[in-house]
Amino acid sequence: MPILKPLPKRLLLGPGPSNAPPAVLEAMSRPLLGHLDPEFIDLLERVKEGLRNVFGTTNAMTLPISATGSAGMETALVNLLEPGERVVIGVNGVFGGRMAEVASRAGADVTRVEATWGKTLDPSEMAEAIARVRPKVVAFVHAETSTGVCQPVEEIATAAQQADAMVVLDCVTSLAGQPVELDAWGIDAAYSGTQKCLSCPPGLSPTSFSARAIDAVQARETPVQSWFLDLSLLAGYYAGEKRVYHHTAPITATYGLAAGLDLVLEEGLPTRFARHREAAARLVDGLAPMGFVPLVDAADRLPMLTSVELPERIRSLGEGSVRARLLQTFGIEVGAGLGPLAGEIWRIGLMGENARPETVDRLLEALHEILD
Ligand SMILES: Cc1ncc(COP(=O)(O)O)c(C=O)c1O
Repeated sequence: MPILKPLPKRLLLGPGPSNAPPAVLEAMSRPLLGHLDPEFIDLLERVKEGLRNVFGTTNAMTLPISATGSAGMETALVNLLEPGERVVIGVNGVFGGRMAEVASRAGADVTRVEATWGKTLDPSEMAEAIARVRPKVVAFVHAETSTGVCQPVEEIATAAQQADAMVVLDCVTSLAGQPVELDAWGIDAAYSGTQKCLSCPPGLSPTSFSARAIDAVQARETPVQSWFLDLSLLAGYYAGEKRVYHHTAPITATYGLAAGLDLVLEEGLPTRFARHREAAARLVDGLAPMGFVPLVDAADRLPMLTSVELPERIRSLGEGSVRARLLQTFGIEVGAGLGPLAGEIWRIGLMGENARPETVDRLLEALHEILD
């Protein structure tokens, strides 16, 4: 009995992963190189440059961490925070809450600024907390995948800069689907994931650190509690002249990311962002007659992740069984609500390659078949 059996084909319209296009999958089937092979190091350098492009930065320390988005989150927080240091974290969904948990496990003194799930963080509340706490780091989520809220960045980042705090921004869902401008916004550390708008399989976390962030890591008094995610050690392999073994870089995943970045940059970021906005608008318009109501105010909605309150008809059928039917009969995955929104909303992702009118129409047709 083989372990690997045939697998169904799914249209992945949940909160991630999204579908990877053939060019990415083809890249991932190419022959392995060693992680110290000069050809692989050259590829890695090109990947780093591609990531700088999509992150809107010239940060030298821009690299794919060898694990999923959560590892990028940990890398940013455990390197920039030492035990007892103060951090202000915006929490308006699962991932802000997870940042607070990671920072607290790193021994930091965490101040949470909460907002209702489905609403943006109030920049003046963040600014007030920053002025009061005088933190070393301010952290928040750009695209809150648990709710579909897009957080405006600049006002909070400015308040942090005025207090001389570093800014950590979660770009897991936003990167390559909407503008991310680390340098223009003055962000010191940002992280993402490959499986959302970059349309690669999960497995790498693109990250970027400003020179100021790297200086802060070098000025630490205590060692970073994580050996694997210690940026000073990672720099020995990912930066500099001499590449020193730290861990074995995920070769195949890096090929996939390279191909994914090529597709993003060939398409052009403005065109790609417009495609995401148009697909989201088509989805919201198509769902409205069926009684789905967007959870988030129009001005604060993410283009790549739409959360919708469920109509009575879906509730009476059982939202879980409708999602199961979408999956089993139509091969379409959509996401359930999390935390207080479980059973209340669906989260529909139109990320990367999937942000296209034909994808939206496939979902709408399936829903019509189930509901009509
Ligand atoms: C906003 C946000 N941050 C962090 C993560 C964690 O990323 P991963 O699941 O790749 O570890 C996710 C995953 O969905 C996310 O959406």
